[in-house]
Amino acid sequence: MTNDVFPGDPTLRSTAEAMDATDPLAPFRSEFHHGDPEQCYLDGNSLGKLPLATIESVANFVTQEWGSELVGGWSHWIDEAQVAGDLLARATLGAGPGQTLVCDTTSVNFYQLALAAIEALPERSTVIIDSANFPTDRYILEGIARARDLKLITLDTDGSGGPGSVRVQVQNERVTAEALAPYLDDSVALVTLQAINYRSGARPELKEITEAVKSVGAYMLWDCSHAGGAIDLDFDGNGIDLAVGCTYKYGNSGPGSPAWMFVRQSVQDQLRVPIQGWFAQEDQFVMGPYFEKAQGIRGFQTASPSIVGIRAVQASYEIIERAGIATIERKAALGTQLMIALVDAWLTPLGVTLGTPREADHRGGHIIIRHPDAEKIALALRKIANVIPDYRQPDAIRLAISPLPTSYQEVWDGFDRLRDLMASGDYHGVEPESSRVT
Ligand SMILES: Cc1ncc(COP(=O)(O)O)c(C=O)c1O
Repeated sequence: MTNDVFPGDPTLRSTAEAMDATDPLAPFRSEFHHGDPEQCYLDGNSLGKLPLATIESVANFVTQEWGSELVGGWSHWIDEAQVAGDLLARATLGAGPGQTLVCDTTSVNFYQLALAAIEALPERSTVIIDSANFPTDRYILEGIARARDLKLITLDTDGSGGPGSVRVQVQNERVTAEALAPYLDDSVALVTLQAINYRSGARPELKEITEAVKSVGAYMLWDCSHAGGAIDLDFDGNGIDLAVGCTYKYGNSGPGSPAWMFVRQSVQDQLRVPIQGWFAQEDQFVMGPYFEKAQGIRGFQTASPSIVGIRAVQASYEIIERAGIATIERKAALGTQLMIALVDAWLTPLGVTLGTPREADHRGGHIIIRHPDAEKIALALRKIANVIPDYRQPDAIRLAISPLPTSYQEVWDGFDRLRDLMASGDYHGVEPESSRVT
């Protein structure tokens, strides 16, 4: 994708206006709450905006279901982790029903599936992750490896090292099947990577990597937190068997909304999650003395689903399903292309470098720009320019287009303000904040 995909010069606001005028997703913007119309919210990859339908759906649940049905409600709430999972899989994963649960957190689901995969191959002793992976995945896998005395290989793609690190040469933290190949053999039980890297925004080769890992008889577990709702993951086409992700980023389901796990039907009988809770029991309400894993995806569910959280997930993924994930991915590609064009035209002369692949099919809905003063600039964007990005160590500012609530004009305005802020040097005077969150 190059600059000729735009209807005009990308440095002119009129070009962003023209892009909005022909955007098939433009009408969806009005389905979201926009608290401050002047704000450029470019952080939908961290926490998505509130869909208006969610307000009604959650309020109705609280008053009309919980409030009036009380415990009787469980007769129809009981399987909602699966009902919501089927919707989420249909809308964003490209996978059929009976393979997805909306439950728990990404971290817990990651632990569950990583350990299930490792225990399914007891004669194997190696697990592989990358150094640019999200911290929770790295820390959890390190804990599992320590407890089980496994060999942990960390593919060092960003120079940060980590347990068992081996340096691999890749661009923008983007692992390839070729880079992974030297570490794959029949000692490997599990490889885990992100479908979109949380920092660089790089999208690895989902199909090629999955095939390579499966060809040595190991399991491949994808963390799709930054991919779900931004790109067409096509689990069936890519042969993906195991995956986890959150719903609060491009899923717009709210802070701490329940996450999801995906276990392909063909591997469900091979795997048992370590937390074998009562929802996974075949005869759940017999409450007998021994655990017997339920058939199907319920055999992976631990405990009572958060119905209020699930209602937010349902309201939001119904919008995604209506919009169509292929259309969403196209807008993510074009919106990030607009950002890259503005980086090239405006920010490179100010000392910024792009940390995200230029090929649209090698990235998702966000980019990062690198600058030695990134932390201060990100803070000043929020405090002075009313632009919301986020900052990631050591020198990265993340900027996203969330295709349903974000317009191209909002992206353009955000970058225009960023250029002014950097060119004026006004960000130097910004006072640091005491928040733990960046
Ligand atoms: C890639 C990735 N994995 C895991 C998580 C952690 O999610 P949770 O707090 O729901 O466990 C995040 C959070 O942002 C993430 O970006």
